Parts: sequence; C-alpha cells; structure tokens
Amino acid sequence: KKTALIMAGGRGERFWPKSRKSLPKQFLSLTGDGRTMIQLTVERLMPLVALEDIYIVTNREYKDIVLEQIKGIPAKNVLCEPSSKNTAPCIGFGAMYIEKLYNDAVMYVLPSDHQIKFTQIFLSALSDASDIAVKNSNLVTIGINPDYPETGYGYIKFNPGITDGRAYMVDSFVEKPGIDLAKEYIASEEYLWNSGMFTWKVSSILKSIKEFMPDTYERLKTIQASMDNVDSEKVIEKEYSLIEAKSIDYGIMEKANNIYVVPGSFGWDDVGSWLALERLQKSNEFGNVVTGDVISVNTENCIIQGEDKLIATVGLRDAIVVDTKDAILICNKDNAGDIKKVIENLKICN
Ligand code: GDD
Ligand code: MG
Repeated sequence: KKTALIMAGGRGERFWPKSRKSLPKQFLSLTGDGRTMIQLTVERLMPLVALEDIYIVTNREYKDIVLEQIKGIPAKNVLCEPSSKNTAPCIGFGAMYIEKLYNDAVMYVLPSDHQIKFTQIFLSALSDASDIAVKNSNLVTIGINPDYPETGYGYIKFNPGITDGRAYMVDSFVEKPGIDLAKEYIASEEYLWNSGMFTWKVSSILKSIKEFMPDTYERLKTIQASMDNVDSEKVIEKEYSLIEAKSIDYGIMEKANNIYVVPGSFGWDDVGSWLALERLQKSNEFGNVVTGDVISVNTENCIIQGEDKLIATVGLRDAIVVDTKDAILICNKDNAGDIKKVIENLKICN
C-alpha cells in the first residue's frame, strides 16, 4: 500500500502580506498560474498515489479551505491539529492514523508549498525512495544539489561508498547550520540540501519516534487509541496541548543512523521568501519582477506585486513592494528574511 501525507499547517509568515494566518501560502497561487500550491502538490502526486490514499495534516482552522481546494478528497483524510507543534507531531499523527487503518504502508511525506518543475523526474525519485524504504526499516529523504550556502535548509553528508540503487547512505544530517558551517559544506561538495520530502514505512518512522521522542510517541498512541471514540477530538486537544513542538529534522533526522538519501534534480524550489519570485517568474529588461498594474520609472531589480491599485515606483532599487487590500509591504531585499518580525509586531499590537 502506498500513501502520502501532505503537511499543510504552516503559516507562511515570510510571505506577508499576501500570506495571512487566515489563508497562508500553501493555499495561494504565488506563481500566478491560477492553481494554489497545495493543489499543485496533490496533482503532481496523483500518478503515484490515489486521491483516497492522500492524507493532509493541517490546522483545524484550514479544514474547510483544504476540502474546498482539493476536490474529491475524502473528508476523513483531512487530519486536523488543534495547535501547531511543528512537523514531528504532524508526521507522527498521520503515521498513527495510517497504522490504525492498514497496519503498515509506505508513506511519502511532502510539504504543501514547494515548486517542482519536472514532475516525471520527481516521481521517479519518489518511486526509487519507496523501493529502498520497503526493503528494511530505513528512513529515506530526497536530496538536492546545493548551489549557495542557504542557512534555512537541512544539510545531508552522504557516503558515496555505500549505495542502494540510486540512494546513498547518510553519514550525518545537520538541520539549519550557521552561515560559516553552510559555507564549509558547500565548499566541500560532500553535502546535499534536504528537500524536506521523506519516504518511509509507517512502522519505520513510528519506531524512530518511539526511540528518539518517547514522550511524543506515548501521546500519539493515546490519540490513536481514541480515534474511533466520540471524544477523540477532546483527547487530541489535550494531548496536543502537552506535546513538545519539534521538527522531524531536529527530532529524528539529526539522530537516526539508518537514513538513505536519493539525490534528485527536478527544478525544486522551496519558495521560502519573496525573493523566490525572481527564480520562478520572468523579470523584465530592468530586472524587475512585476505583477499587476505597475508603472516603473528608473526602477531596477525590484519585486513589485500589485493587486487592484496602480503602483508607481520612481528611482527604486533592490526593493520588494507588495500591495493587498488592507496592507502594504515595502522592504529592502536584503531584509526579506525579517518580514517575520512584522508579524511578531502585529501580534503585540493585537
Ligand atoms: N500540519 C502541520 N503542522 N504542518 C506543518 C506544521 C505544523 O505544525 N509546521 C510546518 N508544517 C508544514 C509547512 O506548511 C510546510 O509545508 C512543511 O510542513 C515544512 O515546514 P517548514 O516550516 O516550511 O520547514 P522548513 O522550510 O523550515 O524546513 C524544512 O524544509 C526545508 C526545505 O524546504 C526542513 O525539512 C529542512 O531540512 C529543509 O531543508
Ligand atoms: Mg519550508
């Protein structure tokens, strides 16, 4: 049995003001082709996994949005979290649900907000990953050839001497290193980026959660035991309030030693901030990436995203301008990573 778990509970804070708590990035069409990122994620996967075997874990706030955007997905496949506890509880929750149904199955774990250009190559990487994952209890991740020292990614040091099909044994996994380490890793040419996409058997990941996050495992077991009961929602609410927030990368991948990596080159982009639009959309002759009604005079290397109003820029360089109905962002490109801080301030104001 092959299943997929799509993680769709993130807040997309670096894409404020387009991405809002009420409608985060994964539910938006950022590249302008009309379909939202989560819709593209599901469509891409359909040749490999039937819709009824795709599970989406999200915050309960977003359940209706998921059902509306993913036409035909069974409502019971949308698993709702009462609070955000990062990816380890999200994946564990999904794994417990699938275990209860099928005892064991292959599980592809995918983010809901990435861009992938070459679907066929991507699917063949996933297929290879599942071949390796079913043979024993290995954890398999998809790796990407890195091209600059990004500090927002995980890094995978692989062992070119130990292979299984197209996969390499992983020597070590380092989540979000500092800039100096990231530079060292890039220079060494011995590392891949972690794409945040994983393949394993349900039994393998649950075994690892039990080993490295025993408290989380127990809470998830309690949730699993309640799944058929009328008071299940209450149990989930209580256990989630007590469960530790941790990503799968820090919680499991940095610690486990049975990890393989399948390297892939399929035009991957994690669409991590507004700057990603420069890679995903064509810029004009002045280096501006423009959407909407925009008049630019003496403006270069800017990202300008309009909605209903006309935007005019004069003598502007290296800036991001985003207009929405009720908020405007004006940001220096060098500070794109700090947009999160606006949200912190918004929380204080509220
Ligand atoms: N359901 C649910 N609940 N989903 C969540 C939660 C949660 O609490 N937190 C995050 N997600 C979803 C996000 O919506 C996203 O699709 C995915 O899980 C990954 O979370 P991010 O918060 O975007 O992770 P990251 O980008 O910081 O880091 C991960 O991805 C990188 C590549 O993009 C790591 O796996 C890195 O190692 C990796 O390089
Ligand atoms: Mg991400």
